[in-house]
Amino acid sequence: MKQFDFLILGSGIAGLSFALKVAPHGRVAIVTKKDRAESNTNYAQGGIASVTSKEDSFELHVRDTLEAGAGLCKENVVRTIVEEGPARIQELIELGMKFSERAAPGEDGGKELDLGREGGHSKRRILHAKDVTGREIERALLAAVAAQPNIEIFENHLAIDLITSQKLGYVGKNHCVGAYVFEKKGNRVWAFAAPVTLLATGGCGKVYLYTTNPDIATGDGVAMAYRAGASIANMEFVQFHPTCLYHPKAKSFLISEAVRGEGGVLKTLDGREFMDAYHPLKSLAPRDVVARAIDIEMKKTGADCVHLDITHKPARFIIDRFPNIYQTCLGYGIDITKEPIPVVPAAHYQCGGVMTNVDGETDIMGLYAVGEVSCTGLHGANRLASNSLLEALVCAHRAAGKILSIERPKSNLIIPLWQPGSATNADELVVVSHNWDEIRRLMWDYVGIVRTNKRLQRAQKRLANLQEEIHDYYWNFIVTADLLELRNIATVAELIVRCALRRPESRGLNYNLDFPGLNPEWSQRDSVVQKTI
Ligand code: FAD
Ligand code: SIN
Repeated sequence: MKQFDFLILGSGIAGLSFALKVAPHGRVAIVTKKDRAESNTNYAQGGIASVTSKEDSFELHVRDTLEAGAGLCKENVVRTIVEEGPARIQELIELGMKFSERAAPGEDGGKELDLGREGGHSKRRILHAKDVTGREIERALLAAVAAQPNIEIFENHLAIDLITSQKLGYVGKNHCVGAYVFEKKGNRVWAFAAPVTLLATGGCGKVYLYTTNPDIATGDGVAMAYRAGASIANMEFVQFHPTCLYHPKAKSFLISEAVRGEGGVLKTLDGREFMDAYHPLKSLAPRDVVARAIDIEMKKTGADCVHLDITHKPARFIIDRFPNIYQTCLGYGIDITKEPIPVVPAAHYQCGGVMTNVDGETDIMGLYAVGEVSCTGLHGANRLASNSLLEALVCAHRAAGKILSIERPKSNLIIPLWQPGSATNADELVVVSHNWDEIRRLMWDYVGIVRTNKRLQRAQKRLANLQEEIHDYYWNFIVTADLLELRNIATVAELIVRCALRRPESRGLNYNLDFPGLNPEWSQRDSVVQKTI
């Protein structure tokens, strides 16, 4: 048993920003399942959207966000996050974050922030560190965390489940008192107890066969919160990024939307530009539109990918602006200054998640959620590019402010230690790896960019069988990281399908051929699921 004042699950931008805010007020544990920097945050390329230039305005950023969100954003949440963004960005800079700069107009040699452009944005407003923004954010935040004696980081520790009063058999309002955590190296399970637990576990890209996300993104936070009885919303809105590198040896390498922001053009393999047939903003249309257009073109031509062409730009500009993309592609034998980049859409971002308000509060007392794991209402049915890092920064600050402004609940619950029962070592690990593959493939084939009710129902049936098998396995064998993550991707897959079946319309990222239009009854209506305990 380990006791802390604040328990944080996850060490991406959400978890680390929150840790820095609460550390002066108590002992903080950050539990993270791999190395401390390994997170979706670490791979973010394009940057953080925020209004910092005179040509831009909060009104325009709000309007772009609402437009991308296809009628499902909560406007008050959008406004709060957009308007509080600049102050949080300034704090990040004061912590040591280095954004790319360019020469300011005039002749005094001054510098200003270099602003990138991405799909759906009417202005240049993306602050970035070349094309490795996330790596620079993690560097800056981890350096600041290392200087805080009150924060302890537990690497290679995987949270299994939240510990809640209801699960322990207490009556009354459900509250969270910590989490059971699997220490991978020692093969042990610890009980971490704390009056405040923050879920900052990120998204669930690994539920799909093809994804831009690293291996950590298995939807653990949503699955844990669901099992604990929290409301989960809008899981049908999985964002597919239009341009993931297509190469047999490349695992999940993103080609940033900023490449299109700087003039990159999508073409079929025979060199035909096709986006003008789908949207006036062409290659810079909102992501859902671009991903669907690529899907249609690939199906029409039978090609395995399309091309993203930026060769018309000077080579020096490309290498300086996109050093990571240039070097990585070169490593696969593609010189992006001379030839187009083969790309395909891939699962990228979870717009739904654990339902919270803009202060990160869930419907379980003592449990907060911030970042990609949460569903605040900012993204609606489709996230505007580069709004997620912004959301995590603003909501981490607000959640900390909220928690510090109220008296922390004191719990006298007795937390039992983890009981392995009569579990034995699994003899057939092939079951686990087979089920991992099966779920990811069936989600890709049946619950992808374009859906039908028949395919969704098929997926639901198969997932029910798989879940039964995983359930038996979970209770009879000693836990491993692979098994714990498998249980979570199965739960999250099922939640995505359930939410998609509930929504009788095509809105934003949920495109269903059986319901091709918008249904006004579902405008401003979230698809909410909750487990009865
Ligand atoms: P993450 O950064 O994913 O962190 C989650 C943390 O939780 C990790 O430390 C992980 O190890 C840990 N964790 C997960 N499960 C457990 C568990 N069971 N136990 C313990 N620890 C656990 N967004 C933008 O706004 N701009 C961009 O330019 C951009 N580019 C992107 C590029 C790529 C390739 C990807 C994949 C995403 C990009 N996004 C971008 C999205 C953005 O990076 C994420 O939404 C954001 O970083 C999420 O931050 P987070 O702190 O919520 O989660
Ligand atoms: C990108 O760089 O294209 C990713 C931006 C995002 O997901 O917000």
